[in-house]
Amino acid sequence: MLKRTHNCGQLRLVDTGKKVTLGGWVHSYRDHGNLVFIDLRDREGLTQLVFNPETQPEVHKLARTVRHEWVIAAKGVVQPRGQGMANPKLPTGEIEVSVQQLEILNVSKTPPFEMDNAEKTSEELRLASRYIDLRRPGMQQKLHTRHRVTTVVRDYFNRLGFWEIETPMLAKSTPEGARDFLVPSRLHKNCFYALPQSPQLFKQILMVSGIDKYFQIVRCFRDEDPRADRQAEFTQIDVEMSFVDSNDVIGVHENLIARIWKRILDADVAAPMRRISYKDAMADYGTDRPDLRFDMKLKNISDIAKQSTFKVFTTVIEKGGIVKGLCTPGEKYSRSDIEKTLTNFVGDYGAKGLAWCKAKKENDKLSPAGGIAKFFSPESQQQIIERFEAKDGDLLLFIADNERAANKALAPLRCKLARDLKLYDQRRFEFIWVVDFPLFEWNEHTKCYDSLHHPFTSPVEDDLDKLETDPANIRSQAYDVVVNGSEIGGGSIRIHDSKVQQKVFNLLNISTEQAQQRFGFFLKALEYGAPPHGGIAFGLDRIVMLLTGTDNIRDVIAFPKTQRGQCLLTDAPSEVDQKQLDELNLRTQRHLRAIEPKTDKQ
Ligand code: AMO
Repeated sequence: MLKRTHNCGQLRLVDTGKKVTLGGWVHSYRDHGNLVFIDLRDREGLTQLVFNPETQPEVHKLARTVRHEWVIAAKGVVQPRGQGMANPKLPTGEIEVSVQQLEILNVSKTPPFEMDNAEKTSEELRLASRYIDLRRPGMQQKLHTRHRVTTVVRDYFNRLGFWEIETPMLAKSTPEGARDFLVPSRLHKNCFYALPQSPQLFKQILMVSGIDKYFQIVRCFRDEDPRADRQAEFTQIDVEMSFVDSNDVIGVHENLIARIWKRILDADVAAPMRRISYKDAMADYGTDRPDLRFDMKLKNISDIAKQSTFKVFTTVIEKGGIVKGLCTPGEKYSRSDIEKTLTNFVGDYGAKGLAWCKAKKENDKLSPAGGIAKFFSPESQQQIIERFEAKDGDLLLFIADNERAANKALAPLRCKLARDLKLYDQRRFEFIWVVDFPLFEWNEHTKCYDSLHHPFTSPVEDDLDKLETDPANIRSQAYDVVVNGSEIGGGSIRIHDSKVQQKVFNLLNISTEQAQQRFGFFLKALEYGAPPHGGIAFGLDRIVMLLTGTDNIRDVIAFPKTQRGQCLLTDAPSEVDQKQLDELNLRTQRHLRAIEPKTDKQ
């Protein structure tokens, strides 16, 4: 077999005259009757091969037989391309290799889709033939970026004295808020392992073990419905540190982010980064992951709306709700855009309606006009203009509901409007830490508290006594880092006192017995000299999405699952042999139905 001397992205004019051997896939071929051209592709690029019938008739004859995606090796001499034939789009575009020897290493069936047209092919087809899909330069560049990010991460933590330690995949369930994937145990009948939702408790136990600084690039499993930025199986950059406060953790990790962005995009990220309290984020942007590439702050106008004659507003306020809205350049939006498109949009997020008016200048005076303007007195109208700092032509949109529901619809509306109106530069990155989260959130359905992060998050020290008196107002020592509206990481300083941990479990309605049964091992570890500690986890997939500019998480994972949790390449999940089930002492519903004695009625 011919042995490669160079890759397909390597050769330049200075290599003219060199004897080289390249190996790769036939990306395209052109038979000009006399000369045959083949674009040969490998991971590093494309090189043009040229076959001349006069100098190498046998090789030329063989070259005419090759087809797309065949694997070949070609030996020849580097030469400049003919006058006017250079391709400035290709790094190798000034040269070609005049082939003297050709070896066909493998043939290929006709690929199920054209590589150059893959974007127009259905994603299902691409996922089913992922080996072809991953040959595309765009996909390879994404996987390469992912590799480069993990290399930067490992190098960064290594220099700072962190140790990379693996934690079990077959584990006991830890509550991160999602459903567990369960794995039946063969040796312990009727018992199950849970695949880790994150290594949370193991990394904390590593701190109790004196490891001091831990990191791991680790797979996590959460049985929740996949979304554009969510997979059931995803990867975290997971970190834990001892004897630290939240500023220490934040400092180490904003430097990590800055280093990743510098190395991968050559972009400067300013550290320290901005911070915003959870309360302000919810008030100004309606979400704890605000996109700050544009302003468009939400404003509460309940005080003004209370004075109006608009029944929808006054009734909601009387019931303890709010009226909140935003202001956006309005020229582009007709009445029907607002009352159909935008109203339907917020309807999908549960809003019952979308009230509106426009800011109009008449006789040099700016006032709300149209829509709900008529329900407001002239003074209230001026207050609205001032509150939103509205300009002539602006569109003002309002939702009246309870605060949570209003935010739920206004936050995505804010992003949609900015996207539609192109109010920001897509390539800009705006980083922000969200801090001062409440420890608990009241759950109306279950009528008890939920953790806003997870149950191991520490309250701020000053609020510890509120565990007994005022749980709703305890602040936590948690922090999330958000980029362009995407939460790329989150963590906290942890509880390291078993008594405080037990109290938190109780407030979460986890009884002492349940806590012992589920986390007894962990509570026990805390009793043996647990140091103060804290950490964070980043979503690696989401970071790579941002760096490669894709909004589809499957693009940055070599073998992802579909929205329905399937791997179309291997056809997982699939049924298993009865023998396997028997070994695990498991019966499926179908099996049970098959062995159930049939009654007369059936
Ligand atoms: P959390 O649950 O916030 O924290 O996860 C940390 C980060 O992981 C990413 N992420 C996901 N990415 C893709 N698909 C998913 N299904 C998914 N779920 C989460 C997000 C998120 O910010 N143990 C804690 C961390 C800690 O406290 O140290 C944890 O897992 O980018």
